[in-house]
Amino acid sequence: MTHLESLALRFTHTPHQTELWILDQTLLPLKEKWVQLTTVGEVIEAIKTLKVRGAPLIGVVAALGLGQSAIKGTCLKQLENEAQALYAARPTAVNLMTCMNRMIAGIRSNKSPEALLSIAIELFTEDLALCEAIAQNGAELIASGDHILTHCNTGGLATAGIGTALGVIRKCHQQGKQVHVYVDETRPLLQGARLTTWELKKLDIPYTLITDNMAGHLMQQNKVQKIIVGCDRIAANGDFANKIGTYSLAVLAQYHTIPFYVAGPYTTMDWHCADGSRIPIEQRKASEVSGISGAFGHICWATQDTQIYNPAFDVTPAELVSGWILDCGVFTKTDFKQRKVIQYMPLLA
Ligand code: MRU
Repeated sequence: MTHLESLALRFTHTPHQTELWILDQTLLPLKEKWVQLTTVGEVIEAIKTLKVRGAPLIGVVAALGLGQSAIKGTCLKQLENEAQALYAARPTAVNLMTCMNRMIAGIRSNKSPEALLSIAIELFTEDLALCEAIAQNGAELIASGDHILTHCNTGGLATAGIGTALGVIRKCHQQGKQVHVYVDETRPLLQGARLTTWELKKLDIPYTLITDNMAGHLMQQNKVQKIIVGCDRIAANGDFANKIGTYSLAVLAQYHTIPFYVAGPYTTMDWHCADGSRIPIEQRKASEVSGISGAFGHICWATQDTQIYNPAFDVTPAELVSGWILDCGVFTKTDFKQRKVIQYMPLLA
């Protein structure tokens, strides 16, 4: 029997049954509801609607959904179609594509259903280890007493493990460092206000929630010593995409000379993408900006028929980054310019 469990994912496989469950993140923190995903169609819907979210986690859930489909007897040709559909479920986070490419390679080499499922399980356990390595590397950059600003949600809800940027903070807390987190609420979908606060409270890490437009004011008042964010795709030159609002933080950080770090696993690196201008940015529906949805239903506050623009991510240029906290070490701008990072990432070279 195989049983995998993380903060937002449960997967069980026995000779008699395979079950994939996710915690519906659209309902948090008001409601903790687990949802079973029995088909690849349901997995795609969960990814598109952000019931399951966060770059590393969507890759792992997609792989397990495909593994489940293989175990249920889907033929290789259909499995490849399903993998392509999962690949396209969200366009910005490259982890989804990295995971699907690993599954597609297995499908094309005619692997058995059990062997395909093993690849998916491996992706889960690998992400656990990647999070741990990122946390170890990043914790060395943080001093006791630091007030750290973060954006979106990059913790256990976004990965199979302890998280990326939030994993670094969690590691510092475990090490006994006194850290305080400023949590950007992260409009429009409030991943900071709804999800990061939920995680930090559980972990007993001190935090203060702010609205996104308060970040500059806090920096001006010397209340922030470090900024750490996650990422959805890092281009070969170090530019990276992350949740909308990240770029503004990086610009503010440079003006106030505050170290600005980005944390992510190698599965977020995209060597085929020369720079940030080539990263596809997901556009989402207008109702996310004109109002809010959650366990309480939907509330619309904007004037009817208002024109709306809703890019889910933005791109931060490498020149604004103080360091890239990856599983294989902490890298500088020079490391990226000299393409030194690639030698630590044999799987992607
Ligand atoms: O739209 P989301 O909630 O999936 O966006 C998530 C982010 O932008 C995270 O910062 C990123 O995926 C890194 S999660 C470890």
